[in-house]
Amino acid sequence: MSSVRGKVAVVTGAGSGIGRQLAFELAKRGARLALSDVDELGLGQTADRAKALGAEVHTARLDVSDRAAVVAYADAVAAHFGVVHQVYNNAGISGGGRSVLDTDWETYDRTLGVNLHGVINGTKAFLPHLIASGDGHVVNVSSLNGFMAQPTLSAYCASKFAVRGFTEVLRTEMIAGGHPVRVTVVHPGGVRTNIASATVAEARAQGLELSPAELARNRVYNEKLLTMPAEQAARIVVDGVEAGKPRVRVGKDAVLVDRLVRLLPARYPVLSAWYDRKLFGRA
Ligand SMILES: NC(=O)c1ccc[n+]([C@@H]2O[C@H](COP(=O)([O-])OP(=O)(O)OC[C@H]3O[C@@H](n4cnc5c(N)ncnc54)[C@H](O)[C@@H]3O)[C@@H](O)[C@H]2O)c1
Repeated sequence: MSSVRGKVAVVTGAGSGIGRQLAFELAKRGARLALSDVDELGLGQTADRAKALGAEVHTARLDVSDRAAVVAYADAVAAHFGVVHQVYNNAGISGGGRSVLDTDWETYDRTLGVNLHGVINGTKAFLPHLIASGDGHVVNVSSLNGFMAQPTLSAYCASKFAVRGFTEVLRTEMIAGGHPVRVTVVHPGGVRTNIASATVAEARAQGLELSPAELARNRVYNEKLLTMPAEQAARIVVDGVEAGKPRVRVGKDAVLVDRLVRLLPARYPVLSAWYDRKLFGRA
């Protein structure tokens, strides 16, 4: 029996990439949807297609890093549908591209604000509603960078390692407390989305000049690492949710990296640095 059909599912960051495809996949499987994003144009396009797929859709502009807004949003979604079953805390940014030495303080605040606090906000705000539903599910999107460190991604890795820790604690608490809420942490590998290009667009919007090396790095990322279609990634995530998996790795790269890090926990940064140099050249 489907754990999605007829359920109310919340998806953050639904205006693009994995979040958009999660909305479509959930719509196809019969969910009712609460979709949000800071990008209202992208969100509108997702909502139109999800409705065309037959879903009932509620949309709202929501910045997941704005705690008060997320709390008010959770109450608004619960009031709209009368119940909330699933929340996909998906919205995220890369915050990457520079070494720890060169990353400014603001990038750490913004990246942790969206990727970590956004997930904490969405989880805590919706948790009472999920428990009240009697059949809840929290799905938090981490990354393969939730178990593997990679040069120039310190803010991103810090946020995604923390999402994993936060989500696994939540799972222990739901089990210990006997609450009717399943918990899944998702570790995607490279998925073809706007995430890397959005970093460049945001830097330009802030009037920042990116060096040719940074632009080249971004291009290689898009061409060589972000390869799985987002549609396929979303299918793997929702299959994992329907199967009640506590942990979903998306893609062979995520599975391989997971094994490598567990095999060589102290040595893998040497390999990670070597691979980075091979792929992107010397910094
Ligand atoms: N693409 C990959 O290879 C990959 C790999 C691992 C993990 N992920 C994770 O998957 C999730 C989705 O990313 P994606 O690849 O689809 O990227 P994307 O850039 O295509 O989509 C991210 C969406 O989040 C929205 N967003 C950004 N900041 C927001 C905020 N403060 N509040 C609300 N919405 C906000 C954006 O507007 C965008 O629509 C992220 O958490 C990302 O870290 C992606």
